[in-house]
Amino acid sequence: MKPKFDGYAAQYDAWFMENDNLFQSELRLFQRALGDISGQRVLSVGCGSGLFESMIDHSGIEGIEPSRDMGAIAQKRGVNVIAFGAIEDADLEENAYDVIYLNGSSSYMDDLHKAFAVCKKALKPGGRFISLDVPKESAFGFMYLLAKNLGTFDHPYLNGVMPQLPYPLELCSAGVWHSTEEKINVLKDLGFHNFDYCQTLLKNPMYTNEDVEDAVPGYQSGGYVAIIARK
Ligand SMILES: C[S@@+](CC[C@H](N)C(=O)[O-])C[C@H]1O[C@@H](n2cnc3c(N)ncnc32)[C@H](O)[C@@H]1O
Repeated sequence: MKPKFDGYAAQYDAWFMENDNLFQSELRLFQRALGDISGQRVLSVGCGSGLFESMIDHSGIEGIEPSRDMGAIAQKRGVNVIAFGAIEDADLEENAYDVIYLNGSSSYMDDLHKAFAVCKKALKPGGRFISLDVPKESAFGFMYLLAKNLGTFDHPYLNGVMPQLPYPLELCSAGVWHSTEEKINVLKDLGFHNFDYCQTLLKNPMYTNEDVEDAVPGYQSGGYVAIIARK
């Protein structure tokens, strides 16, 4: 099966560039969730085009990416792409990483248990697992699921309430969209502990790109949420 993001690399990056305030808000959450990673061995699962990595000191960050188009851009941006493929099939060194994160990737995974288990095996004991994503229960999640089911953003249900530049429809439709509770439960099942949460994009989607938002603690209000847990 063709990787979900093949053919969308340019559109994906362009969407963030055109929605700069939204991008900056997500970047603040990303930086806050990652914290200080200097000297640590770090893996980005579904590193995409390496857009977020290119905004931080990313020397040494390793990546896994199923889409060749996306991964090739990440390589050009200096991410060390160690495998082109899905995390579920990755053969990673065990107990090797200090930090493994998924920025926006879990929404495209059908079997979270399988994917997170691979991450857990590769983390050092005490290592940090971080998943940042659009929760299914958020306004963004509802909007994406509605558009996925309608097959369009151009529908009377959505008239007058849409962001000026919505996320590409094909990428909404390719998403599985999991709730935060679902991800937390999978992680608890796998034995992760010491959970921490922070969130951004608290405004409704049509206003999100008006200003840059600071990340705040918790997970019940944001359109982009970080779960941080320890192995
Ligand atoms: C929303 S994009 C995020 C890309 C990048 N992390 C970023 O923040 O810009 C989701 C990424 O997850 C990747 N992905 C989808 N399914 C995956 C899987 N099973 N394993 C690893 N990556 C996956 C996609 O190819 C895509 O690049």
